[in-house]
Amino acid sequence: MALRPLIAGNWKMNESVTDALKLIAGLEHHLKGLYEADIVIAPPFTSLYSVSIAIQETSLILGAQNCHWEDRGAFTGEVSPLFLADLGCRFVIVGHSERRTLFSETDGMINKKILSVSRNGMSPIFCVGESLAERENNATFDVIERQIKAGLAGMVSREAEQLVIAYEPVWAIGTGKNATAGQVAEVHHFIHNLLEKIFDAPTAAQIRIIYGGSVNAENSREILSQKRVDGALVGGASLKAESFAHIVKAGEASLSKK
Ligand code: PGA
Repeated sequence: MALRPLIAGNWKMNESVTDALKLIAGLEHHLKGLYEADIVIAPPFTSLYSVSIAIQETSLILGAQNCHWEDRGAFTGEVSPLFLADLGCRFVIVGHSERRTLFSETDGMINKKILSVSRNGMSPIFCVGESLAERENNATFDVIERQIKAGLAGMVSREAEQLVIAYEPVWAIGTGKNATAGQVAEVHHFIHNLLEKIFDAPTAAQIRIIYGGSVNAENSREILSQKRVDGALVGGASLKAESFAHIVKAGEASLSKK
């Protein structure tokens, strides 16, 4: 049976509080009547509180883009997962390729973050994906397997049910060059099988595997209609209410095809 689609908007370092509230108003308008997908928005930390208030009467779900693995302490400039949960966040993006490459996050750090997000009752959106060189060297599956095994070390099946895996090929992020539906389906199938081995078949069947990398209003329908593509992690196109709503609609429409 198809899982409830998850469409998540990763706003990255965009939108001041004022602009964030304008975008929320636009989303409310364009998303009216759409209830068959989980719609997550992950604004910058600085607007999380204002956004949490603004979405109280809507079906939008609050997410964060990153966090530290400790709940509190002497970690200047870091953000506690405990405080994010307290603020109403239900999802946290972990291990995004921009964190890995621009901020030197390692598989070990990502593992600690994933466990701590779960311990705080939130769902990690755990990003994995190969670089262009890795794909060209036929290393895609090795890279994905290494990242997933390292990231999920120590996680038990019960916690894994809340987990979301985002397959985001690095070469497709922000480039306008999305992976083809066939490439996405192949990797998602591989991830599903790997999750069965790491946990068990019933647990793997509960874990949503979403795709990210230049998803837009035009290509979302084909990508989301693939088997085991349970949603999308959207960057650029999540900053325009109309195109984000279009992707949510594509997610809902995909349910009837699975
Ligand atoms: P993009 O970003 O949709 O702009 O390619 C996706 C992401 O980084 O999650």
